[in-house]
Amino acid sequence: AYVVTDGCIRCKYMDCVSVCPVDCFYAGENMLVIHPDECIDCGVCEPECPAAAIVPDTDPGAGAWAALNAEYAAKWPNITEKGAPPEDADAWNGRDGKAALFSP
Ligand code: SF4
Ligand code: F3S
Repeated sequence: AYVVTDGCIRCKYMDCVSVCPVDCFYAGENMLVIHPDECIDCGVCEPECPAAAIVPDTDPGAGAWAALNAEYAAKWPNITEKGAPPEDADAWNGRDGKAALFSP
């Protein structure tokens, strides 16, 4: 499965939602996650993310985010349409240390 990593936090652009053929994104307060059992590994979302936050779970950068995606996909609501990103999304794109800002 593909995994949303810390790059998504406070960016939450949601371009990924628009392209996923199986609607397997789930939305938290400041990031999205992918349901690992629903993702069909098509890879379409990866290049669409302006924050480069999406990686395959085989990527070293996935790390602990794979487990976090699985955990929160079971808790957060499904999202099937792109909404409005945070107004300051661009200011957070590429910033370090966003993992600490994860909002469960
Ligand atoms: Fe959806 Fe494909 Fe991305 Fe998986 S890899 S989350 S199925 S767009
Ligand atoms: Fe997040 Fe990128 Fe989607 S910032 S909401 S993973 S387009």
